[in-house]
Amino acid sequence: MSIIKLLSKKLKRNIFTTPSHNRIAYFSKQYKNFYEDDYSEIEGYDNLSDPKNSILMSETRTAEILNAGHSYYITQGATSGILSAMKALLNPNDSVLVARNCHKSVFNGLILTGANVDWFMPESNAEWGIYTQIDPKKLNSILDINNYKAFIMTSPTYEGVNSDIEQIAKICKSHKVYLIVDEAHGALNYFSNLLPKSAMEQGADVSILSLHKTAGALNQTAILNVSKNIQGIEERAFQNAVNIFETTSPSYPLLANIEACIQYLSSNKGKIQVDELFSDIIEFRNELTRFGIEFYDEKYHDSSKILLRKKGISGSALSDILFDKYDIEDEMTNSVSTLYLTGIGTTKSKLKNLQNALINVPVDSSFEFEKVEFQPFPLVKIQPVGTFNQKYDFVKKEDSVLKISNKLIMPYPPGIGLLYPGEAIQEWHLKYLDDNVEVIV
Ligand SMILES: Cc1ncc(COP(=O)(O)O)c(C=O)c1O
Repeated sequence: MSIIKLLSKKLKRNIFTTPSHNRIAYFSKQYKNFYEDDYSEIEGYDNLSDPKNSILMSETRTAEILNAGHSYYITQGATSGILSAMKALLNPNDSVLVARNCHKSVFNGLILTGANVDWFMPESNAEWGIYTQIDPKKLNSILDINNYKAFIMTSPTYEGVNSDIEQIAKICKSHKVYLIVDEAHGALNYFSNLLPKSAMEQGADVSILSLHKTAGALNQTAILNVSKNIQGIEERAFQNAVNIFETTSPSYPLLANIEACIQYLSSNKGKIQVDELFSDIIEFRNELTRFGIEFYDEKYHDSSKILLRKKGISGSALSDILFDKYDIEDEMTNSVSTLYLTGIGTTKSKLKNLQNALINVPVDSSFEFEKVEFQPFPLVKIQPVGTFNQKYDFVKKEDSVLKISNKLIMPYPPGIGLLYPGEAIQEWHLKYLDDNVEVIV
């Protein structure tokens, strides 16, 4: 029986377990529905840490839909899926190559696994101020000369840049390197022909989806996919790793929400809704192009991540005006471009409001976009595992160059580190540092 059906049965049983609220919302009445299904692993309800019945059936069905060998349900976000994937595949002192535009959870995974990192710089586009694809040729030449256990990368990126995973997966396989793809922003790739193929379809070993970002599910819902073709690792390694990071009291409403999300998106109705989103976006873009708005576009771009710029105004000024005057909040901005995330739930009228506001923002014809600068190649002095809770001291900013940072510098979003603990401070970082800088001694 599916998780949703199980929860819809409304048990009359007198249950003396946690949660003790007994499905009654004494306070927070607005969350009444959430309370009604909030069970723990009572008799007959299966166990997320060792699923045998409804959860296993649901995960298996999802894996079929997602073209995976197994899909693990995660109730603590893609963050927890990423940590689990890393724990399953990496041991202390294993070498791992990581794309620098990975989410901060990957750095935390390096601390937890004790694996040693080498960083890989993705391509970048200074005119839009974003990291772009992973260059397969560059990757191939690095893998030719170094041995790594795994390569970890993000695709699509926050801004919707998809890399050629098929090519990258082939390169990784030929070098016996596991490919872990953070697909947190790519859940819809599994459900639309208007988007690039999914990481599972293109041959990644592991991928992690965040269902709350674009796929219409509740916060914290995520899936860890393991490929049918992964080699050299026992499958239980993944369940064991998931169990380290997953709570022992997983939320049944969240589990049912994961199941419902995948069922819906794979249904005709769901597919039509995803396709409608893309046709609404095409209309939106066509309309705005006539008003001097430019959209980021390239071969593998996911247009549901609307990255735009308006001639005559910086991204940050545009963002401020839209927020202050039109009550429109973007996902993030830089000196050039602004990102509006859409997904299941983005209505035509919401796009229309954004469209009207963008048209009305005044511009200065003499204004020219600054080019965004990208961080220098990181100089790792102490591996992440050796940086956790280290002794530190303060030095004056002007004396800090080539000292080892104890601090993380990371604008959020997007949660990509500009300087991680253990890395040497370079001239470029000074503009982000306080007058007194924490350095590892
Ligand atoms: C690329 C990327 N990976 C992983 C995550 C973490 O996802 P979650 O919030 O589901 O834990 C984020 C969150 O912003 C992200 O942008």
